[in-house]
Amino acid sequence: MPVIVLPTTPYEGQRPGTSGLRKKVTVFEQRLYLENFVQALFDVLPDAKGLTLVVGGDGRYHNRVAIQVILRMAAAKGYARVLVGQGGILSTPAVSAVVRRHAASGGIVLSASHNPGGPDGDFGIKYNVANGGPAPEKVTQAVYARSREVREIHTCDSEDVPLDALGTHRIESTELVVIDPVLDYANIMRGLFDFDAIRKLFQSGFRLRFDAMNAVGGPYAKALLEDELGAPVGTVVNATPLEDFGGLHPDPNPVNAEDLIGHMFAEGAPDMGAASDGDADRNMVVGRSFVVSPSDSLAVLAAHAAKVPGYSRGLAGVARSMPTSTAVDRVAKTLKIPCFETPTGWKFFGNLMDSGQVTLCGEESYGTGSNHVREKDGLWAVLFWLNLVAVTGQSVESLVRGLWREHGRCVYSRHDYEAIPTERADQLMADLRAALPGLPGTQVAGQSVVLADDFAYTDPVDGSVSQQQGVRIGLADGSRVVFRLSGTGTEGATLRIYLERHEADPARQDLPVQQSLKPLVDLAEALAHVHQATGMEQPTVMT
Ligand code: G1P
Ligand code: ZN
Repeated sequence: MPVIVLPTTPYEGQRPGTSGLRKKVTVFEQRLYLENFVQALFDVLPDAKGLTLVVGGDGRYHNRVAIQVILRMAAAKGYARVLVGQGGILSTPAVSAVVRRHAASGGIVLSASHNPGGPDGDFGIKYNVANGGPAPEKVTQAVYARSREVREIHTCDSEDVPLDALGTHRIESTELVVIDPVLDYANIMRGLFDFDAIRKLFQSGFRLRFDAMNAVGGPYAKALLEDELGAPVGTVVNATPLEDFGGLHPDPNPVNAEDLIGHMFAEGAPDMGAASDGDADRNMVVGRSFVVSPSDSLAVLAAHAAKVPGYSRGLAGVARSMPTSTAVDRVAKTLKIPCFETPTGWKFFGNLMDSGQVTLCGEESYGTGSNHVREKDGLWAVLFWLNLVAVTGQSVESLVRGLWREHGRCVYSRHDYEAIPTERADQLMADLRAALPGLPGTQVAGQSVVLADDFAYTDPVDGSVSQQQGVRIGLADGSRVVFRLSGTGTEGATLRIYLERHEADPARQDLPVQQSLKPLVDLAEALAHVHQATGMEQPTVMT
């Protein structure tokens, strides 16, 4: 079975977005489409002699086909070893964990995260580097450039590798090891959290409902929560990863996880609810009749981190993406630790964690994580909350209310306008950008603008600069409106408008969020003429 070379021609548009290359399954099914991208990646990476690669995905439709393609090409590239999850399964945080624990040179994650799956759904591929985190922009840009020139695919003419049982196989001189997808990940969790305290919590009758949304988080949550921590069987629902997620949109927010929200707001609701997304790196935490915003979740974890064994020596610093609320900034100030503001996307946290400046980080998009891996981590966040509930004796709601009491409430919402024609979305952003210089010092919709810019980030570690990361409008009272276009969608463009207002008055903290943010919605409309530009009366999704 020698290495074979297949002639190919480049495909347009293989530019990785916020989190790898994401396209419709039908796009990935085109002849040599995946092969072209993988070849571009392998051409950019150094010689693989002696190196280990990790491969796994969230089990969505096309995962199995894609993995076999990658295994053959990895053998042709000359990797010494490829570690692949049993059944082709590895959650995104587990890929990160396996890369780190086995000193691999990198990992390939097959997932379109929270995007729907199935033959008409989405597929994706992302490369992680040796620290276990998403490849930095200089790598993704080089891969894209190479994808426009790729003319030859190097692969092996070999049989499919059996992935359903643990074991070791070989293609050419490459050893292919089918590994337990949960093992390394579970070991890390055991080292971070007080499993005895969580076990006692469940023994005392504490009830959790974890909705894995028919996605890859199920096996991890079942193994840890039910098998190891003693949560009753049935605590984890929708626990079997399905190729189409059973038709669910595996995005853990109150809109898409409506079944969980229904349970948590019903009579006799469990004490805590949680959900994770397609590849199990996102999380949503819900109290009894109480939704926790992801920005608040990050702030609560930061505030109480020292109560958890893995963080008992305190946090070096925290980081959040720019559109994420400033709740964690306030906590950081009290803790007297630095707080970094990065562009959207997990890849920007890697350098800060590698250099020891940041321990916890998070995004408003239901992503929270720490330096235990270099991805956000859904189940980790849920275990963290369980640990806090167990050692403080407080409910989810009272932990969040404690945050608001001490720091005020950062009232927060994100409005998404999905599937807008790309030209219109680009025009809206271009018009906004053009208006920025004239805005500071003016009144818009009756509110005083003090800041108007396009967020740019200089990485404090490697000095790399990322421009145009979102238009920010800041008001005199500290409120913010942020506009940016999504980099993960696969249909037209998605405009995201992020709204934040600080409410110090406890009497006003329970006003409905959308009501409290209405003046900012008016400001966004006055500035960007969203309705006219998008042709939509309402956002498609509000979280
Ligand atoms: C979205 C989120 C972002 C997250 C990314 C990957 O990206 O907004 O915070 O890191 O998914 O999960 P976007 O579509 O906004 O580019
Ligand atoms: Zn995800």
